[in-house]
Amino acid sequence: KALLQQDLAGDQVLVVSNREPYIHEKAADGTVKVRRPASGLVTAVEAVMRACSGTWIAHGAGSADRETVDKNDHVPVPPKNPSYTLRRVWLTEEEEKGYYYGFANEGLWPLCHIAHVRPVFRSSDWEEYVKVNRRFADAVIKEARTDNPVVLVQDYHFALLPRMVREALPKATIITFWHIPWPNSESFGICPWREEILEGMLGSTILGFHTPFHRKNFLDTVDRYLETRIEPEASTISYGNELTQVEDYPISIAWPDYPDTVPVDVCRTEIRQILGVPQDHLLAFGVDRLDYTKGILERFQAVDRMLEMHPTMVGKFSFVQIAAPSRSDLEEYMNFEQRVRKLADKINDRYGKDGYLPIILKIEHHDQNELQRYFRASEVCMVTSLHDGMNLVAKEFIAARDDEHGALVLSQFTGAARELHEALIINPYHIEQGAEALYRGLTMPSVEQVERMRSMRDRVRRFNVYRWAGHMLLDAARLRKREKVMQKI
Ligand code: F6P
Repeated sequence: KALLQQDLAGDQVLVVSNREPYIHEKAADGTVKVRRPASGLVTAVEAVMRACSGTWIAHGAGSADRETVDKNDHVPVPPKNPSYTLRRVWLTEEEEKGYYYGFANEGLWPLCHIAHVRPVFRSSDWEEYVKVNRRFADAVIKEARTDNPVVLVQDYHFALLPRMVREALPKATIITFWHIPWPNSESFGICPWREEILEGMLGSTILGFHTPFHRKNFLDTVDRYLETRIEPEASTISYGNELTQVEDYPISIAWPDYPDTVPVDVCRTEIRQILGVPQDHLLAFGVDRLDYTKGILERFQAVDRMLEMHPTMVGKFSFVQIAAPSRSDLEEYMNFEQRVRKLADKINDRYGKDGYLPIILKIEHHDQNELQRYFRASEVCMVTSLHDGMNLVAKEFIAARDDEHGALVLSQFTGAARELHEALIINPYHIEQGAEALYRGLTMPSVEQVERMRSMRDRVRRFNVYRWAGHMLLDAARLRKREKVMQKI
């Protein structure tokens, strides 16, 4: 963290993302409540911004009470201890519909995730996407106090923005991080605006992905659809007069300092009381955005199968799923919610009696402290994404377990599976495998839990989010130096 601050000393840092790190909501009594949205991106980037300050430009979507914050669209945050500025860009309904719901989440999201949901591409959505990228680029340009700020562009909502900013601020250091997977070139090729997207992204100084696999897919895609010079060894792309460094930077979390943490035995007791289950009841836990890429249905099927294969667990074990609603205006997400509810009901009907519920489903937002308690109270955490860039829930669970207990069931299709080898790695499409891993986690001997957990904790502690940001910024500093030398020659 200190090195990061040192690296950035004197530089202006501007972050651009769609999702805002804080949502201001007016409660029924008129007071304004501030909430953190469910987002791995926010979890990671917020920690970095707290450390290095600057301005975070985001879409004011979640701020239900626009009036509350509209008057002052530069808000100091975090509310209790401000260390950077949140600058909101307000979008019209039409812009939000086309850019966010449409092109970003019905087009790019399913295009990049292999979750068998067909991407939808509409020209009208694309037009809004271009327009909104321009609006955010203008906000960056307006916020820039120097001609060479460090601009951190987040995610698939802003593929065109790097080039737009580059044209206005040629000396800016633009670091774009793609938080979701990048598919193979053939799959990406169905996007009607593939060239425009690639050209836009190549306005970046550095382009980051979570894994070498996604980085390689990106290089192949550029090679296939654009006239560029690619140096595979150096992992650079020259396009026109510009050079983009393409790297993999696995994202992480800020390692917690524990002074305020509620002891594990207290969490165990309280959570079981809240759920109304006996104190010796076994718990497995999952928390995700309510999204079809997260493998929530497959997870429930694994629970169902586990109870079928191990009937001694019936009545003694429950699976708690917290699912934070997001993108709920989209039909695909509405249908998904229905399917999740229906499957939970079916399994509960099958095994539930005398108030026993094998699946406890809570479709609502939970704050970070509450989630910590669930992490600490559960025997097992299940992450079963069908495809995921990294998945920070897996790392948050590991970080929460300072008692070195608990088992992690982890999908092989997450970036996290490349780092957390001691998890019980599964293919979420293989229901029996998921069921067995869950049972294994619930019955894992204490010594084995400690061995696995210790090793994973050590890795997450060392490769934390400051390292993630630090690596990108160090690479950026190296490139800036090279640029200066080249100019002199
Ligand atoms: O990285 C995936 C991502 O889409 C982020 O960009 C976003 O912050 C998070 O998931 C939550 O999604 P949404 O903002 O659409 O609810």
